[in-house]
Amino acid sequence: MTSRTQKTVYRKNYTPPSFLANTVDLTFDLDPSQTRVTAKTELIHNPQSKSTDIVLYGEDLELVGILLNGRKLAAGEYALENGLLRITKAPEVTRLEIETLICPDKNTTLMGLYLSNGNFFTQCEAEGFRKITYFPDRPDVMAKYTVTLKANKKQFPVLLSNGNLVEEGALPRGRHYAKWEDPFNKPSYLFAIVAGKLVCQEETFTLASGRKVLLQVWVEKGNLDKTAHAMESLKHSIRWDEERYGLELDLDRFMIVAVGDFNMGAMENKGLNIFNTRYVLANPRIATDVDYANIESVVGHEYFHNWTGNRVTCRDWFQLSLKEGLTVFRDQEFSADRIGTKDGRAVKRIEDVRTLRQHQFPEDAGAMAHPVRPDSYEEINNFYTVTIYEKGAEVVRMYQTLLGREGFRKGMDLYFQRHDGQAVTCSDFLAAMADANKQDLTQFENWYSQAGTPRVKLRTRYNKKAQSLSLTLSQSCPPTPEQAKKRPFLIPFAFGLLDAKGKSMVVNSHDVTVRKKLADAPSGTALVQLTRKSQTITLTGVPEKPVISALRNFSAPVILEYDQSDEELALLLSADPDAFNRWDAGQRLALRHLLRLTHAVQHKEALELPSTLVEAYRSVLANDSLDPAFQALALTLPSEIMIAEEMKEIDPQAIVQARHFMLQTLSHSLQDEWLKTYQTIRIPAPYSPEPDNAGKRSLRNLALSYLMEGDDKKLMQLAVTQYDNADNMTDRMAALTALTHAGNLTSKKMAERCLRHFYREFRLEALVIDKWFALQATSPENGAPEMRKLADHPAFTLKNPNRARSLVFGFCMNNMAQFHATDGSGYDFWAENILELDRINPQIAARLSRALTQYNRFKPELKKRARKTLKHIASRKLSRDTGEIINKILA
Ligand code: PHE
Ligand code: ZN
Repeated sequence: MTSRTQKTVYRKNYTPPSFLANTVDLTFDLDPSQTRVTAKTELIHNPQSKSTDIVLYGEDLELVGILLNGRKLAAGEYALENGLLRITKAPEVTRLEIETLICPDKNTTLMGLYLSNGNFFTQCEAEGFRKITYFPDRPDVMAKYTVTLKANKKQFPVLLSNGNLVEEGALPRGRHYAKWEDPFNKPSYLFAIVAGKLVCQEETFTLASGRKVLLQVWVEKGNLDKTAHAMESLKHSIRWDEERYGLELDLDRFMIVAVGDFNMGAMENKGLNIFNTRYVLANPRIATDVDYANIESVVGHEYFHNWTGNRVTCRDWFQLSLKEGLTVFRDQEFSADRIGTKDGRAVKRIEDVRTLRQHQFPEDAGAMAHPVRPDSYEEINNFYTVTIYEKGAEVVRMYQTLLGREGFRKGMDLYFQRHDGQAVTCSDFLAAMADANKQDLTQFENWYSQAGTPRVKLRTRYNKKAQSLSLTLSQSCPPTPEQAKKRPFLIPFAFGLLDAKGKSMVVNSHDVTVRKKLADAPSGTALVQLTRKSQTITLTGVPEKPVISALRNFSAPVILEYDQSDEELALLLSADPDAFNRWDAGQRLALRHLLRLTHAVQHKEALELPSTLVEAYRSVLANDSLDPAFQALALTLPSEIMIAEEMKEIDPQAIVQARHFMLQTLSHSLQDEWLKTYQTIRIPAPYSPEPDNAGKRSLRNLALSYLMEGDDKKLMQLAVTQYDNADNMTDRMAALTALTHAGNLTSKKMAERCLRHFYREFRLEALVIDKWFALQATSPENGAPEMRKLADHPAFTLKNPNRARSLVFGFCMNNMAQFHATDGSGYDFWAENILELDRINPQIAARLSRALTQYNRFKPELKKRARKTLKHIASRKLSRDTGEIINKILA
């Protein structure tokens, strides 16, 4: 691959490694201020490479010495510059022994070996192993690892690494050691160690095959009362992968470790998953229903990586979505299957599509847009994006939609049969799907190579005399950086027809497949494969003009352009047998009026809401045959970001005001219904996070938040009472959020008391204090001055990513009107934090930098002010991470 001296790395420049590694034998002499690492690697020349040079990467290392086949190398026998150590004309088989020194306690980047609360952790994906030793740190170099850890026994009683513990014992001077062996080949990014004062919940678990495995969840001592849910989630994950994909856990021991300082959600290191505490720790007192669900899905995600990522890994980092898109798809399916309520799978689908629209669509329309398989990057850490993860998962889901569940499974089986133990590409995955199903999927490749969200425009014509309906579907995709023109995509387009009373109609045509086995589709759903820029299909035997339910279950990650009247949308909302489209019809209806209201605010016109919308909402609320979780989703308005996405020129203040007006109107017009909902929903005690109860809580708490929109003291008191009496974090947090975000004087006073109480009550629970900061950061009342005050709070620090995210990201990403304040105060706060964070943790600074990727689309005065701020940041010395983002935004 390319040396880090080059600014941009290109996919087309991929070359196979010159040497492959057989075995790696690592010894760590652990010490916080200076750790000694000895790496013995057996390298063998790769016949696929013309070069005979060994190329090793290294960063922030002090090189002590190198032995080559037992002989010490003199300084002139290797070249060391810009993070590359090169040994020219190396022997076919080369045993290298390299000794380096590193300083974990000075490492604030949380990559490589670092300390968190006095314990050692590593993070090696994507290129962190090179901060541990000089190594061919690229995913297509796979080897067997043996690891020996040595440390002071009192300070670091627990010593963990990948695979199996094969030896442990005492050493002189109060030290001890442990030796671990990982029986599987792996790339360096999956290497991990953990050392320190930790305790675990453990259990022996029997696999479907009858083999017994040891499962452990490791945490700091005070957190042993918060591991049960993660353990349960792990066991469910293991079962699910056996049942759905026939994939078994391949190790005798599987460990999860929680760490408070972590850049991402979690990491799939072989047999030793390391997790942000946020995705492990839960009990009713500190975790909400959403936290519980997130833990289950992240535990699943990391576990599923063991096959999709670890057994079969990526050839190079451009193929990142090969493992991430696939594994997100797998965790989404796992969670959907776990819900088990009537509309459970649809509820999960709705949440996932909401995430995609809220985060990925804007990314795909902005300066950082990139294909699911990027062509180039400056800093790979910047490509752990919603496009790679969530759009990547949609791409995988489309195979399943096109091939059916069974066809998809055949493709998966062939993929493992062909590639187990290899480092492969997205094209290899596509080939396995195509070959297993004897289909030509050549055009599907465009989903990997082209960025941007495709638009599908639908026009219909009904011919009463001929009783026929024609659908004309045309697709286009807007230009994205470096890709002006796009080729058509292969788009699976699912749809159905409803008559005027909302009953399903039969679809007859030679042009479409009516799939009985289409996953998650109600009967009567047809599937068309769009392949051209424009195509027309004709349906016959259509006795009346139907209402069309288009893009059922969101069969492709596209933006549908199809004009339907308020009445048609209301009909779909009440009657579509496809639950996803029922929800989507409501969203489209609300969005249309939110956009109209935003326009009215801008032009100082009177604000009004039509009764169609209010009545549509009333009937959703009154329909108790619906799943409460579904009702809650259907009654939640599209977010401010979703409104902004539809505007040519974004006016944040107008958007917030329009949305607020709609909330208030729905609050007043449906006050009796909200109150009834709030008072009649009964949830069995004691608290349990299972989906049935969680769904009821989410509807009940949505009702509460609508009730808070009116400035009524009696109603406010409901929230205070709920806050005081809550026996779980879901209800407590919901009440507090409703109070703080209601935005009137009465609620404000009440909120202040609760906020003070909340802090005192939970001051020892870091994850809850994160919530406390986030809640205030996203309050529409609070602007940059309040943020500065909060940043001065003794509990605040930028060094901990979760804490930085709660306050600074909370404000810059989720407080639209205040962050985009016309005086520029929000932007100044943003810039200061980027610059300060960039010196501590470039990855986190680069993430924060993304808050203005779409600055170009804001109204002129904001655009000007944003550009000035961006230029100011760009004028400073920046990390490669932050530099790439800021410069791409300005380009
Ligand atoms: N590979 C991890 C996951 O998705 C994410 C991650 C990337 C974590 C880089 C840390 C660093 O499961
Ligand atoms: Zn992942």
